[in-house]
Amino acid sequence: MANYSCSGSKLGTIGQLKYISAMFMLIGLLIHAQLVSGRPATFLQDFRVTWSDSHIKQLQGGTAIQLILDQTSGCGFASNHQYLFGRISMKIKLIPGDSAGTVTAFYMNSDTDKVRDEVDFEFLGNRSGQPYTVQTNVFAQGKGDREQRINLWFDPAAEFHTYSILWNRFHVIFYVDQVPIRVFKNNEAIGVPFPMQQPMGVYSTLWEADDWATRGGLEKIDWSKAPFYAYYKDFDIEGCPVPTGRPSNCSSNLNNWWEGPAYQQLDPIQARSYRWVRLNHLIYDYCTDKSRYPAAPPECSAGI
Ligand SMILES: *[C@@H]1O[C@H](CO)[C@@H](O)[C@H](O)[C@H]1NC(C)=O
Ligand SMILES: *[C@@H]1O[C@H](CO)[C@@H](O)[C@H](O)[C@H]1NC(C)=O
Repeated sequence: MANYSCSGSKLGTIGQLKYISAMFMLIGLLIHAQLVSGRPATFLQDFRVTWSDSHIKQLQGGTAIQLILDQTSGCGFASNHQYLFGRISMKIKLIPGDSAGTVTAFYMNSDTDKVRDEVDFEFLGNRSGQPYTVQTNVFAQGKGDREQRINLWFDPAAEFHTYSILWNRFHVIFYVDQVPIRVFKNNEAIGVPFPMQQPMGVYSTLWEADDWATRGGLEKIDWSKAPFYAYYKDFDIEGCPVPTGRPSNCSSNLNNWWEGPAYQQLDPIQARSYRWVRLNHLIYDYCTDKSRYPAAPPECSAGI
């Protein structure tokens, strides 16, 4: 939200009044623009609980939610619509303290098991004082196994931070606070499948995965620290919603802002921060894992 501040000039002439009424019109337009943008006022306008109602609490009139993990259950939620291209964004505050063995995920998924498209953010918890790991993955037409892992340059449990996925026909970009941490380019031209044909829904879950999440499963969840809480707010989906069971015109519209020239490649400043993340925060990349891929997959050498 922008802050509007008025300077203390005295009202006197008609000119000034005109100027002031023009300002009010402008503010009105801005407010209107915000109301019609993709950001819902409350959780229930765009989402539904998919797993364990009792473990998702709406806060502040539904503008924020609390996810709960305890020994009885984790929980999950999903968008009411599926989208074909767009940008999804949320502010998340992860489980503080000892979160080892927990996984908080935020992702898009086509819900088509055999030819699944999926783009994932997974936050892997850790023992108190040890850093969270952010794992990302991309599935296209059923093929995944493209994990990358980074650590963050801040404590994601101390404050809310923004996690976003931009998805268009050119690439999928994962952002942390507007910093690109991963770019998966459309390399269909060299035979690499890209999520293009199927709309995807937006999902989130909090669950226990101590068989693999923290130090490869060595660190177990400490239930004496339960319940574990993660917080979400500012749900923002700007995308082309696909009506269920009806053909969509989403794939043929280059007028959507997320397809525009500014979103077709990283600008020089974004490219620089992306390089900074890769140099300083990347801790695993499937592209360089010779034990899994003796020859790096083709998308790995295609640049950004
Ligand atoms: C947890 O902390 C350890 C020790 O600093 C680190 O090796 C590991 O990558 C961290 N994250 C996970 C998810 O295990
Ligand atoms: C889809 O078509 C409808 C009706 O022609 C139009 O109003 C809408 O803007 C189109 N949406 C997109 C994303 O092209």
